[in-house]
Amino acid sequence: MVTGTGHRSRGGRASRLSPAAWLYVAIVVAAALAVLGKALGADPDMDGPVRLWWTMLVLALLFCVCDSAPTTLASRQSAWSPSSSATLAAVVLVGPAGAMAVGATSLLSVRRGLDLTQRVFNASMYGLSAYAAGEAYLALGGHVGHPTQASFPAIIGPFAAAAVVHVSINHGLLWGMLMLVPGAEPGQPGVAVQRYITMLFVSDLGYATLGLLVAALWSVGGAFAAILVLVPLFVARWAMGQFAAQERAYAATMAALCQAVETKDCYTRGHSERVSRGSAMIAREVGMRGSRVEAIRYAGMLHDVGKLGVPTTVLQKSGALTEEEFAAIQLHPMRGLAIVSEIGFLDEALAGIMHHHERMDGRGYPMGLAGDEIPEFARVIAVADAFDAMTSNRSYRGALAVEEAIADLRRWAGTQFDPALVDAFVAALRREGWEEPRAAAPAPADGLAAADHDDPTAPLRVVESW
Ligand SMILES: [Fe+2]
Repeated sequence: MVTGTGHRSRGGRASRLSPAAWLYVAIVVAAALAVLGKALGADPDMDGPVRLWWTMLVLALLFCVCDSAPTTLASRQSAWSPSSSATLAAVVLVGPAGAMAVGATSLLSVRRGLDLTQRVFNASMYGLSAYAAGEAYLALGGHVGHPTQASFPAIIGPFAAAAVVHVSINHGLLWGMLMLVPGAEPGQPGVAVQRYITMLFVSDLGYATLGLLVAALWSVGGAFAAILVLVPLFVARWAMGQFAAQERAYAATMAALCQAVETKDCYTRGHSERVSRGSAMIAREVGMRGSRVEAIRYAGMLHDVGKLGVPTTVLQKSGALTEEEFAAIQLHPMRGLAIVSEIGFLDEALAGIMHHHERMDGRGYPMGLAGDEIPEFARVIAVADAFDAMTSNRSYRGALAVEEAIADLRRWAGTQFDPALVDAFVAALRREGWEEPRAAAPAPADGLAAADHDDPTAPLRVVESW
C-alpha cells in the first residue's frame, strides 16, 4: 500500500498544511468514523471480530510489521509497504469490520517522522480501503471464514474485486492528499507519485493476492501462515526499495549533468528545469502516456547537455560568430547525444536531445529534418525551449511577457514550430500558468551583449567567411 511520509520537499510539516488539505484530512477522517459507526450499528458487540480476537491480533501485528518498515519512494513524499496483504487476509478471515480494525492499526505504526495528523489520516485511509474491500467481497458472494478446498475457485472472483477496491481507494485517497501538499516541482503538487502510479497500482494488486494465500494457509497452519508470508513480503519491500534507489540515482545523474551545463553557460541557469517542465506540460496536453511524459521530462532537462562540448568562449561570445564557431554551436545536439547515449533509461529522450533545433521547414540543424520527419520529442522541446528563452532576461533585451512570447510562437508555428504543439502549449499555459525565472541571467564576463542560440527573437549572427 502507498502512504504519505514525514518528508516534505517544501512546505514542512502537517501543521503547515493548506486549509484545503486540512479540509481533505477532516473529510477522510469523518468518513472513516461514519463507516465505523455504521459497522458498530450493524454489530454493536462486534461479535464477529471479538470472537476472532486471536486472528485479528495476528493480522494486526502482520500489518504493523509491514507498515512500520515501508520503503521510501523516489519522491520521498510517499512510501510503499506490502501491508495490503494483511488487510485483505482480514477481509476473508474476519470480514469488513475486522479488516477495518486491522487497517486502522496504522495509527500505532512504529515509524519516525510521522506526526499525529499523518497517523490519523493514514489509519482512516487504510480503514476505509479495508472496509470497502470487505463489502465488495461480501457483495460478490464471498464467504467470511477460513477458506477450504471447496472455497476454490469461487472465492477468487470476490477476492479479486476486494483487492481492486482496496488498492483503488488507497491510491485515490493518497493521490488526493498529495495533490494538496507542496510537491517537488512548482505547480506540480504530488507529481512524483503520479509518475509511478500505474507501476505501484499493479504491484499492490500483485502483493494483495498474498492476502488470499495467508487466508488459505490459515486453515492448515493457523497464525503460522502470517509468519510464512513475511518472507515474500519483505523480498517485495526490498525490490521496491531497489527501484526507488535507482530512480533517485537517475535524478542525481540528471541534476549533476544540468549543473555542469549551467556552470558553463550563464544563460542556462534554471533553463533546463523550465524546459523540462514546459515539455512535460505539452506532453500531458497531447495525451502522452506517463512513461513518455517522464522520458520527455529527462529530454527537456538534458537538451543542451552538448554545450559541454562547445568552447565557453564561443557560448558567451558577443557579436557575430565565425563560421567555425557557428558550426561548433550547431554541433551541440550531436555532442549531447554522444555524452548521454550510454545512459540506458533515456531511450526516446535521445531523439529529443539530438533534434531539438530542427525546424518544421527543414532549415534547422543538425540534420535539416522537416515536418513529421522530426521526432515528436524534439518538436515538443523546441516549443518549450524557445518559449523559455523568450521569457527569460537576456543582457541584450529584457524578458518578453508571456503573451508576447505566445504571439511569437504562433507567428513561427508551421515554419519553425509544430502548430499543434504550440496550441497544446498555449492551452496548458492558460490552465497551469508559467513560473517565470526569478532572477535575470547574469551578463557575460566582458559585459557586452551576447546572443542565445535558443532565442528565436535574436538569431545568431555569422560573419562572412574570408
Ligand atoms: Fe540547444
